[in-house]
Amino acid sequence: MKIIITGAKGQVGSALQRVFREHSLILADLPEFDITRPETVAQFAAEKPDLIFHPAAMTNVDACARDPHLAYHVNAFGTQNMALVAQRTGAPMVYISTNEVFDGTASEPYHEFSPTNPINPYAASKLAGEQIAARLVQKLYIVRIAWAFAKGGNNFPAKIIRAADKYGELKVVTDEISSPTYVPDLVDALKKLVTTDHFGTYHLTNSGICSRYDFAVEILRQSGRGSVPVIPITSEGFNRASTPPKYAPIQNNLAAALGITMRPWQEALADYFSD
Ligand SMILES: NC(=O)c1ccc[n+]([C@@H]2O[C@H](COP(=O)([O-])OP(=O)(O)OC[C@H]3O[C@@H](n4cnc5c(N)ncnc54)[C@H](OP(=O)(O)O)[C@@H]3O)[C@@H](O)[C@H]2O)c1
Repeated sequence: MKIIITGAKGQVGSALQRVFREHSLILADLPEFDITRPETVAQFAAEKPDLIFHPAAMTNVDACARDPHLAYHVNAFGTQNMALVAQRTGAPMVYISTNEVFDGTASEPYHEFSPTNPINPYAASKLAGEQIAARLVQKLYIVRIAWAFAKGGNNFPAKIIRAADKYGELKVVTDEISSPTYVPDLVDALKKLVTTDHFGTYHLTNSGICSRYDFAVEILRQSGRGSVPVIPITSEGFNRASTPPKYAPIQNNLAAALGITMRPWQEALADYFSD
């Protein structure tokens, strides 16, 4: 199979490369390939891909809040370009989206058909990507994930460990709640999903729900830093450009109906530290 992977140097893109290494891969990432260039469409369509994975995005949520125009340019217009490649070639496309498309005011986990209502520019631009892809691509998987982490990425576990080692004490919010996604588990699930031809919208995180505070405490415990004090704070005490949804765990109902589930996040975290 010929597979295009956008954002191939990122956390999800790198893991996809490993899982699909026996296939013919077209790796699209900056600076060589820029999904926002309109000529990308003809260039990639000429490759006649059998499958397109599209995780490339502007993922720095605070940078998106500071420059919403750029966020839309990469996350919506860039996705439109990749969707046009899928439309012209008939290739199925997997668009990786986010739990942040929800506003975080729910009292139970969001399901795949829950109404979206993004509350920050990153999330709005990712939802615009979902919408344009849905208009253009017939064979589309939208896969929402949350709090992605993989070895080598600049993710929450890496930041917590860096901060613990630097300051010896941490303040972490208790009122941002979701479910972590261990990227190697995600790509195993994606590998199964793309064989189903059940196109639609999916929620794929590890199972279990936690706050950023709970996640940080477990990261420190599993990395042998359990004695580092973690002071619980609320988001009012934490100044940042973007506003994350407060309660945004996403529930896997539809992939589970196809037999695709992911293990508890604590077990995945143990692999992150042992791999
Ligand atoms: N990380 C999370 O916690 C999280 C949570 C929910 C959803 N998601 C979604 O999951 C997907 C993958 O996330 P990730 O953690 O793998 O992100 P990542 O590590 O930041 O990787 C994204 C990759 O896309 C590249 N990219 C950015 N703009 C591009 C462009 N114009 N053309 C081509 N490539 C471009 C980035 O390059 P540069 O690094 O040079 O910019 C980077 O290599 C994203 O769509 C994100 O919205 C992520």
